[in-house]
Amino acid sequence: MSFSPSSQIVCNLPRVTIVGAGRVGSTLAQRVAEKNLADVVLLDIIAGMPQGLALDLMEARGIEIHNRQIIGTNNYADTSGSQIVVITAGFPRKPGMSRDDLLKINAKIVVEAAKNAIAHSPNAIFIVVTNPLDVMTYLAWQATGLPRDRIMGMAGVLDSARFETFIALELGVLPADVKAMVLGSHGDLMVPLSRYATVNGIPITELLDAATIERLVERTRNGGAEIVELMHTGGAFFAPASATSVMVESILLNQSRLLPVAAYLQGEYGLEDVVIGVPCRLGCGGIESILELTLTDEEREGLHTSARSVRQNIERSQEIIRNS
Ligand code: NAI
Ligand code: 2OP
Repeated sequence: MSFSPSSQIVCNLPRVTIVGAGRVGSTLAQRVAEKNLADVVLLDIIAGMPQGLALDLMEARGIEIHNRQIIGTNNYADTSGSQIVVITAGFPRKPGMSRDDLLKINAKIVVEAAKNAIAHSPNAIFIVVTNPLDVMTYLAWQATGLPRDRIMGMAGVLDSARFETFIALELGVLPADVKAMVLGSHGDLMVPLSRYATVNGIPITELLDAATIERLVERTRNGGAEIVELMHTGGAFFAPASATSVMVESILLNQSRLLPVAAYLQGEYGLEDVVIGVPCRLGCGGIESILELTLTDEEREGLHTSARSVRQNIERSQEIIRNS
């Protein structure tokens, strides 16, 4: 028995490159492949490591029932023609490491990754995950020279998911029934918008008292650190990978989801030349539009405080790059 000769049809399947095959990168590769969104190229500097992870993921395909290709590599030539590039390469802050140390290490890695990736995939849309997120997204935007609709950072989807989780736990409801949005920078100056949070359309202000909401907001602001404290050896990666995969999905499937995304602002919310989390409509063109919500004075001040801190760190990172 044999198959008849195949026709010469070439199937151009979407390809997602993930730079950094660590915990976030490899979990994201699994999510993208198992959601059947795209073929995946996993790239890392460690020889053999992305290749091993890719083979492991390929061996799960029969069990998970999908046919996406997963390639592991140390060579950017293998990433060519990607529709999306996700940068997770870099390190989390370790004990004894100053913010400047982290800025210095990750800035170099992200700038180099962005330049190499864009050289092989000039039409790609970029999503940055490496911390400090808003600053790294700004540096990658500069390094690639991309228009702002094609480069963004992932943080708001994760921070919002944490806020939604804490609300759901408090009320004993399904997390998917809770909708909330967290704007601003990824860190303790983030701006969770309690006023806009709902459980299937019912504002949480009708369901929880002010002190409880404030407690959940504080837990959200501290969400990444809470996991680091529990784990001792690194930070969160399951929810960060899920959050990034939702952005990848909205772009590849042109879903036009309205998600909080770290975007380069040009006057929106009264902010210029800074990257910060705002509600964006994500589709096949990347950031298709930025929604300017009406904010209270307190929320607006929170967003501006957050932006000032990102701007200071952008300037600091540029000084570090100039002096290195
Ligand atoms: P990890 O340490 O598990 O993985 C990082 C990987 O990057 C390692 O495999 C390392 O070999 C690789 N790498 C280092 N330099 C590289 C280079 N020049 N080229 C290619 N690969 C390189 O770290 P993890 O947990 O995956 O986190 C990655 C980054 O994502 C960290 O900066 C972390 O803080 C950040 N993060 C951001 C989140 C967000 O919400 N934006 C959430 C979770 C993590
Ligand atoms: C997180 O929020 C540390 O950015 C990382 O889990």
